[in-house]
Amino acid sequence: MGYLTNKRILLGVTGGIAAYKSADLVRRLQDAGAGVRVAMTPAATEFITPLTMQALSGHPVHLDLLDPAAEAAMGHIELARWADLIIVAPATADFIARLANGEANDLLSTTCLASPSPLVLVPAMNQGMWRKESTLTNVATVQKRGVHILGPDSGSQACGDIGPGRMLEPSAIVDAVSGLFNTGVLNGRKVVITAGPTREAIDPVRYISNHSSGKMGYALADAAVEAGAETILVSGPTNLVANDRARLVPVTTADEMLAACMAELSGCALFIAAAAVCDYRPVEVPTQKIKKTAESMTLLLTRNPDIVATVARHPQRPITIGFAAETANLRQYASDKRLSKNLDAIIANDVSSPDIGFNSDHNQVVWIDASGAEQLPVLSKSQLARQLIAKMAGMIVP
Ligand code: C5P
Repeated sequence: MGYLTNKRILLGVTGGIAAYKSADLVRRLQDAGAGVRVAMTPAATEFITPLTMQALSGHPVHLDLLDPAAEAAMGHIELARWADLIIVAPATADFIARLANGEANDLLSTTCLASPSPLVLVPAMNQGMWRKESTLTNVATVQKRGVHILGPDSGSQACGDIGPGRMLEPSAIVDAVSGLFNTGVLNGRKVVITAGPTREAIDPVRYISNHSSGKMGYALADAAVEAGAETILVSGPTNLVANDRARLVPVTTADEMLAACMAELSGCALFIAAAAVCDYRPVEVPTQKIKKTAESMTLLLTRNPDIVATVARHPQRPITIGFAAETANLRQYASDKRLSKNLDAIIANDVSSPDIGFNSDHNQVVWIDASGAEQLPVLSKSQLARQLIAKMAGMIVP
């Protein structure tokens, strides 16, 4: 199961040292649910063997335009029609140049030319080659024709140079291509998402907060935007950059977050509470910095409003979804929380594991709604966000 479930992807591999990463890319595309077939240029076979790619993809690799046996099994035109998407990774300067010229002088370029499907190029080359005007012009030419370019990354290169030209990591490629299959399931819907921690002042220089990175809420905002929603991201302080198609409402305290959310409720179809709201705040906040004269001090705290519960009890409540980060009895505590907060669904995750949850790029969650609990696989936060958004969209009454 994954966001690429049932998607048919043709992975083209051209001749560059980054071709070794293409093997991992096959696996990651499959993990995301895609069926993968591989086409290689002759130069690519000098870097990684077709046998490796065949073993990983589970299908013979497409190599030669003029091989009657291979063409009889699945010809290049058939392959071009089969693919929902073509990814060329790595895409060399030479391959991009041939594509820009409309050439069809090997199986991969011919298939790209013949296919009506979206085409993604993941360039990988020496930084000098990437910076050449000829390469940049070719990239701009194919981009103008609707080809998607992912990367390149910058950094140290196999040849010893440092600069732009590194192939994007397979996980980043999978995340980006998943976004190409925009479902439109939230077209015309308004979605409000809370994200990040809140900060509660102790005095003008100190505050209480928590370790929330905001990554899950920001990934949900990306997925909601991709699904076509008018997306409002009410966020506490984070180091993240909000999706530029979402409207960011920056807040600091729980009280501010509540006020911002209530102000956005009109017309809202879906409310997702991914923020880690501080449960308590200091009762009194002096206007001057507290001096450390006493050996000990006591802070009197008061409960903060429960934002998601307040939204869920509103007479014109949207579909309301919460999160539950637990360290024990995950399903029971989360299920109780769903009922006590009056939520349509709650997404439970075990934050006792260091690999998932707070600050991690990955997450594994249990989705709990009125019909029961469903464990989702370990996914990147962006893949997970897309799956969750699809499930949430399904709850909105048309
Ligand atoms: O009660 P607990 O903090 O475990 O509940 C977590 C869920 O409730 C999350 O969805 C969180 O965003 C939301 N929440 C809230 N306002 C609070 C506390 C939690 O919206 N004050």
